Amino acid sequence: MDVYGLLGNPVGHSLSPPMHEAAYDELGLEARYVTFEPDQDDLAAAIEGADALGIAGLNVTIPFKQEALEIVAPEDLATRIGAVNTIDFSGSGPPTGYNTDAVGALRALRDHDVDLEDARAVVVGAGGAGRAVAFGLADAGATVAIANRTEPKARQLAEAVPRASGHGLAALERLLAEADVLVNATSVGMEEDSTPVPADALHGDLAVLDAVYQPLETRLLRDAAEAGATTVDGAWMLLYQGVEAFEIWTGRDAPVEAMNEALRSRL
Ligand code: ATR
Repeated sequence: MDVYGLLGNPVGHSLSPPMHEAAYDELGLEARYVTFEPDQDDLAAAIEGADALGIAGLNVTIPFKQEALEIVAPEDLATRIGAVNTIDFSGSGPPTGYNTDAVGALRALRDHDVDLEDARAVVVGAGGAGRAVAFGLADAGATVAIANRTEPKARQLAEAVPRASGHGLAALERLLAEADVLVNATSVGMEEDSTPVPADALHGDLAVLDAVYQPLETRLLRDAAEAGATTVDGAWMLLYQGVEAFEIWTGRDAPVEAMNEALRSRL
């Protein structure tokens, strides 16, 4: 029996257990996925303990993603992003840390036939999600304009990301006029029916990914659909960060359909 899990605090409403267990069921794997809520200052002990117990892999979420970077041996992309959300214990040395949020966004877009090579992308938000998406898009060959409410944070992030520029939200209309891809990596749209992007800046040549998945149909995605844009909801990003973690841990292709169904039936 292989045991996988999620470290976070709180993790009560996480959709990762049913998503991963649907994959184990589909492939007939003897595995379980469980949640753990260590105290804030017990993260290192929790990861070392998991390793000692033979746990096969862990996802890491708020508030531990940044600190986890200091405890495991991080991959290059996770180091650049500054956060780890997936730990693999299968090697003989220290556990390896990955950031599958970045790849999750890329796979969500590619799954909707969005070509990222040489694409002009606009990322709204420069927090944890914005960092992951910006580095991921740059690695995929896109030019990245980062727009954030707090403009200096966007500029600072843009200095670290190849071929990136940093802006305030006022630049969005101008940036979007020439863009192919838009990603909302802010929390705007989660609580209320609000959007960080003016509707008239959207157009039919855009692909729009909203990282918000509660609700699935955000005001941004409704506006984007109305403008004739390709829309990709936040459940795709959530799905593909899990798919990527599954594939790192097991070395097998994930049963994407089964995982998607388990996720969407709960949203
Ligand atoms: P996460 O890890 O989910 O990205 P975060 O690091 O707290 O969370 O970042 C939240 C992002 O949403 C930030 O880019 C934040 O902008 P600021 O850097 O200016 O705070 C953005 N954000 C949150 N509320 C916002 C709002 N009402 N309007 C515009 N941007 C907002």
